[in-house]
Amino acid sequence: MAERIFVFDTTLRDGEQSPGATMNIQEKVSMARQLETLGVDIIEAGFPAASQGDFEAVRAIAAAVGSAQVAGLCRAMPADIDRGWEAIKEAAYPRIHTFLATSDIHMKHKLRKTPEQVLEMADAAVRHAMRHTANVEFSAEDASRSDWGFLAKVCSVAVKAGATTLNIPDTVGYIQPHEYAELIAFLLKNVEGADKVVFSVHCHNDLGLAVANTLAAVRAGARQIEGTVLGIGERAGNVAIEEVVMAMHTRPDVYPYETNIKTEQIYPACRRLSQIIGQPIPPYKAIVGPNAFAHESGIHQDGVLKNRLTYEIMTPQSVGRSGTEMVIGKHSGSHAIKRKIEELGYSLDEQQLAVVFGAVKELADKKEQVFDEDVEALVLEKVYRRRDKYRLKDMSVFSATGGVPPHAAVVMEFVTPDGVETRRGSAFGEGPVDAIFKCIGRMVGMTPTLERYQVNAVTGGTDAQGAVTVRIADNGFKAVGRGTSEDVLVASAQAFITALNRLEKTKEEKRECPTL
Ligand code: KIV
Ligand code: ZN
Repeated sequence: MAERIFVFDTTLRDGEQSPGATMNIQEKVSMARQLETLGVDIIEAGFPAASQGDFEAVRAIAAAVGSAQVAGLCRAMPADIDRGWEAIKEAAYPRIHTFLATSDIHMKHKLRKTPEQVLEMADAAVRHAMRHTANVEFSAEDASRSDWGFLAKVCSVAVKAGATTLNIPDTVGYIQPHEYAELIAFLLKNVEGADKVVFSVHCHNDLGLAVANTLAAVRAGARQIEGTVLGIGERAGNVAIEEVVMAMHTRPDVYPYETNIKTEQIYPACRRLSQIIGQPIPPYKAIVGPNAFAHESGIHQDGVLKNRLTYEIMTPQSVGRSGTEMVIGKHSGSHAIKRKIEELGYSLDEQQLAVVFGAVKELADKKEQVFDEDVEALVLEKVYRRRDKYRLKDMSVFSATGGVPPHAAVVMEFVTPDGVETRRGSAFGEGPVDAIFKCIGRMVGMTPTLERYQVNAVTGGTDAQGAVTVRIADNGFKAVGRGTSEDVLVASAQAFITALNRLEKTKEEKRECPTL
């Protein structure tokens, strides 16, 4: 029987730490459910001691997730560990993940501790965590730049204290694949009690080696891989789980291991995350990028038509892509639309389905072809954004040449504790988008800085929907919003309003956060 590799997903913790990937509680819970459907073994839900918002999010995820383990990250300090436990204790399978740096540079400059003190702290932290649960993971932060002998000592102490998983992170994306394999083999030989624990690897992608390093470590004996969906994370990101999993899946001759990942859930999970954080999947992204299964050159197309295996090493269906992008037309029935929505990873109740069904039909009347992206945009617009505080109702924009200033008039709905209030506003601007943003900003009483404004066509063709992504910042808080419409000015207004809603939620949830 193939050996089992455990998949530890940290999209909601390490991933969420990346710029522009902040998620609110509701979004985190929905992503956690998606990760469970994907089949990850452990969901790292956050860093509960970092802020009240993180704590609440981890607690909500712990309550929502049933089959996967839920981990909370804690520094190697009793107060952090207790706070972490409070947040995860209601999970069906809680895990405390405590970490402590072991490299000379981190111990000296960041922790200001001697190696002896670090050994004591590791021992005390794991023992403290064991008072709450026997499912304890210990991470030696910056392990890849640590002295190997000292690292083996710290790991031995952690095992003796009760840790059941030892994580050996390449925190700064520095190690090379052959070195990482040697390090894992060294630790398997030199850590006392190594045979009783699972060795885990956690790779950052600063040199673009995260996948290669993770796979090298697995071949050397690591049995847990840590990563994120789409590889989001600090700096250049974490290893992309979908890439590691599909490498193992496609080359069982090299990697005779199995995971619990339902590979056909990979695409829905990546799409969901991309929608939540408002960042499109890059065209050349392995496995899930829009071009990953596109064949443009004549020779390739000819080959694929004769036999797909000439230029495809895996099928689009195996990662949950339909293979045919155009799916819904004006004659599609509610069953086809329902199936498409489920394929995209959403589960809606009958009432929500009816609303989306109506919107899809309306779009299909205007547009010849309705693509996956269109359907998904409507689900988000019609179902998920309904709970937002600010909503766009109507708008008109005037734009001309010859020095006539562009002007926007906007009607918005404000959801208040007493019901829904309709308000109207208008403003001039430097351009039509500026006029819209000024008008909306004034109406909600916020004037954030616009850090990014990006327009993409959702699909091809002049009737394609425009997807607008904006990133705004206010008082150190940042938020991303995405809007989709056949009219890019409407999409711009929606994106801005979504970002404002998220900014407000983030402000409510986040309090002062200690640095890692
Ligand atoms: O990169 C890292 O070292 C981490 C640890 C906290 C596990 O994220
Ligand atoms: Zn990390």
